[in-house]
Amino acid sequence: MCGIVGYIGTRQAYPILIKGLHRLEYRGYDSAGISLINESGDLLVYKAKGKVSALKASTEGCDTHGTIGIAHTRWATHGEPNQANAHPHYSQSHMLALVHNGIIENYKSLRAELEHHGMIFCSDTDTEVLVQLVEYMQTTHQCDTYTAVHLALKNVVGAYAIAVLDKRNPGQLIAARKGSPLIIGVGKDNETCPAGESEFFIGSDATPIIEFTDKVIYLKDEEVVMINRHGKCAITNLDSVSQTPQLCTLQLSLDQIEKGGFDHFMLKEIFEQPSAIRTCIRGRVNTQEHRVLLSGIQDHCAQFKSAKRIIICACGTSWHSALIGKYFIEEATQIPVEVEYASEFRYRNPALSPSDIVVAVSQSGETADTLAAIQLAKEHGCFVYGISNVIGASIPRASDSGTYLHVGPEIGVASTKAFTGQVITLIMFGLAIAQERKTLPTELFNQLIDDLALIPDKMQWVLDHTGDISQLAKIFTYCHNFIYLGRGYNYPVALEGALKLKEISYIHAEGYPAAEMKHGPIALVDEEMPVVVIAPKRGMYDKIVSNIQEIKSRKGRILSIVTEGDVTVKEMSDFCIEVPDTRDSYAPLLTVIPLQLLSYHIAIAKGRNVDQPRNLAKSVTVE
Ligand code: G6P
Repeated sequence: MCGIVGYIGTRQAYPILIKGLHRLEYRGYDSAGISLINESGDLLVYKAKGKVSALKASTEGCDTHGTIGIAHTRWATHGEPNQANAHPHYSQSHMLALVHNGIIENYKSLRAELEHHGMIFCSDTDTEVLVQLVEYMQTTHQCDTYTAVHLALKNVVGAYAIAVLDKRNPGQLIAARKGSPLIIGVGKDNETCPAGESEFFIGSDATPIIEFTDKVIYLKDEEVVMINRHGKCAITNLDSVSQTPQLCTLQLSLDQIEKGGFDHFMLKEIFEQPSAIRTCIRGRVNTQEHRVLLSGIQDHCAQFKSAKRIIICACGTSWHSALIGKYFIEEATQIPVEVEYASEFRYRNPALSPSDIVVAVSQSGETADTLAAIQLAKEHGCFVYGISNVIGASIPRASDSGTYLHVGPEIGVASTKAFTGQVITLIMFGLAIAQERKTLPTELFNQLIDDLALIPDKMQWVLDHTGDISQLAKIFTYCHNFIYLGRGYNYPVALEGALKLKEISYIHAEGYPAAEMKHGPIALVDEEMPVVVIAPKRGMYDKIVSNIQEIKSRKGRILSIVTEGDVTVKEMSDFCIEVPDTRDSYAPLLTVIPLQLLSYHIAIAKGRNVDQPRNLAKSVTVE
């Protein structure tokens, strides 16, 4: 939700910032802006409504020189997405420019107070309040900008990652964070940096930085950093007490964040699933010894042995994988599992106890609601387990232990490989607990391990056989509504299939447990209505066959996902896609793939921007 990038050093900042914004565009693309201090010492700000390409076009012929700058791509929260509300925002005197990711909750009262002191605002944003407040503190306390940023942030309620430029001090960049991520890239000592000089990058995540350096510092909550072109990187907390920065090495490569010959990131990520899942289970699923190795569980064995309840908190697609996780973990461990929307959980008064384990599932590891949910769990003394894809993100850092998905960066806004990564990680999580608590018969446990190891090859089979369903997708392009049905483990897949279609094609779709059809949605079925039924051979196959018959007799058009070689459902269906056989609990890992491809191809046929669907953002760091 909003992306920030910054640079200070000896190279021209503009191309670095524009490229960085492109890489962060998945976080928001309502408007974009850039601020630079040029060689004459002018503080320049350029902004445009729309995507980064619109910003780039609008700056053609403008002065974009300068070796220090900050930039922003916005997902609008306060104020409509127009040029005035785009970041960076100037302070009243135009001495400061600031970009912000997050939400300032008390911005109205702060703005009223600043207006009372004569400050004039040019936008509807909460962000402009921040930059005006910094300037106000500077004037009233007669202090430097670094001190003023501390003073201003002490008055702020909410979440922020900010970067500030000061026209009077073109050799330094100030940044801070609380609740929204911010990373500092420490430049390599290369030929672009003459002796004694150095360069720094800042980013909402590592993607704008990795091309230049793999050495980073993850800024912590309520830390303020001042970096300059002579290699100084001073970090303090809001009370100006000096903090020791910890230099980390990124585990990310440039080709992981590029399209690699695919038209879209989403398609690349769908096709990456076999290898991504192979990496996810590597070293964790041991078929020789029939063991699961998850250090996040083994290192806290007592906690998992005595757990009375597991509560999984998540949002969006992660909530769907959590639901599949619940079915499996309960079956494997006999521990009751609840699944909560993090956004609801955090504002309830849930009955929690220290014997509860709260699991946060989040691809980005930054979702504000999920982060707040685990903070609430910690206040109640619960053990918090984080399942995230992004190494070093806020959720894994706030958790007591956890597991990374290791499926590689996911850039497409619609989640695909992270979903299957989460499902398989939750399965490993269930197996690891079952192993400690000895809740499964050895023979079954061993079979579960062996079958799990076969999943990547079976995923490849699905992709090899259904990779091009663009012709099938064209048939459905003009439909206005879809229903997705599944039962048991495939009910959450129905939810996920419907969500994928909504997200990128803007076609209304509902996911339902198949048997619930008769309690309402069946009224919607007519010859116009496509009904996608996930009906693999195992699980409640006979039951779902009856549900299909009910739809058929109301003339619904059936597209089914079936097990290879199935005859019964195939004959009842208008269209059919096969997946290989696997055990019931692992079926979602295969059945979801045709649904991802179907929504992708329908969206393409409708001319949608699949990687950047309207109104959405990949990382939702606001509540
Ligand atoms: C956004 C994304 C979804 C994602 C959800 C939760 O809505 O567009 O794809 O499922 O956030 O994100 P998380 O990073 O916590 O999994």
